[in-house]
Amino acid sequence: MNLPRRKLVVEDLRLGHWSRRSGAFSLACDGLSFEVAENEFVAIVGPSGCGKTTFLTALAGLTPVTSGRLELNGEQIQGPAPDRSLVFQHASLFPWRDVAANIEFGLKAQKRLDDRGRKRVAELIELVGLTGKEDKYPRELSGGMSQRVNLARALATDPDLLLLDEPFSALDAQTRELMQDELTRIWQADGAGTGKTAIFVTHDVPEAVFLADRVVVLSSGPAHLVEVVDVDLPRPRRSDIKRTPEFQEIHDYILGLVMSQTQSGRRAMDHDSNATVVG
Ligand SMILES: Nc1ncnc2c1ncn2[C@@H]1O[C@H](COP(=O)(O)OP(=O)(O)O)[C@@H](O)[C@H]1O
Ligand SMILES: [Mg+2]
Repeated sequence: MNLPRRKLVVEDLRLGHWSRRSGAFSLACDGLSFEVAENEFVAIVGPSGCGKTTFLTALAGLTPVTSGRLELNGEQIQGPAPDRSLVFQHASLFPWRDVAANIEFGLKAQKRLDDRGRKRVAELIELVGLTGKEDKYPRELSGGMSQRVNLARALATDPDLLLLDEPFSALDAQTRELMQDELTRIWQADGAGTGKTAIFVTHDVPEAVFLADRVVVLSSGPAHLVEVVDVDLPRPRRSDIKRTPEFQEIHDYILGLVMSQTQSGRRAMDHDSNATVVG
């Protein structure tokens, strides 16, 4: 049997933050374990404040591992590297660079803006639907357009792992749906038909089910694994799949898991005013 390669191994992972004010250490992930295969699209859902962003920043190499394993391609993640790209909720584009220059930025920084790099940028501009907008400046773009530039910028360096932290949550409902469609299309089209390994954090359960091969449900903070749910819906997916009973069934199951975590987090808060804020 041809098993997919283990791309990412998360095992008994602990992460946390030191408070500058009190000098105390507080856990954000406590004993988190799961694995991601090569080319898999994994969505992560869990109550607000449970540690999702902290986990992504650890994958990006920006938050040190307190204990446990966090391995990419068999090697412990030690720090930031160009093989990983992180996309945040807000596009944070350079306001003084136009669309093309924003997308080129990473390649330029890595001294890879040669003919091949320029060709890649041109392909990405087309892929994310920005043709004709190359010389616009960020102030001239809508939220959806800015997030397309952000996505293209993250893809330009051809990262091994794409990390997305609620990238569509600041968009209005229609634009959000459109961007979800676009992302599945891009993910399916990029890299010669094989999707990049992607970790996508979201609050939105329909978004997670629509995009992902598997959905990782996290507990209220500090996060540990509640369950990994397979999304065995066919690809390519179009947004009307959301109205099928198969979609609804997976959606309702995951929502139930998330709701039970949100409620248990609230109960913990009622008993402990120092507990992690949820909601
Ligand atoms: N830079 C930081 N310094 C101290 N505590 C932080 C920092 N970032 C996040 N936290 C705390 O870590 C916990 C997890 O936060 P976060 O990872 O942002 O959760 P999520 O993304 O799931 O909403 C929260 O209790 C939050 O207050
Ligand atoms: Mg977050």
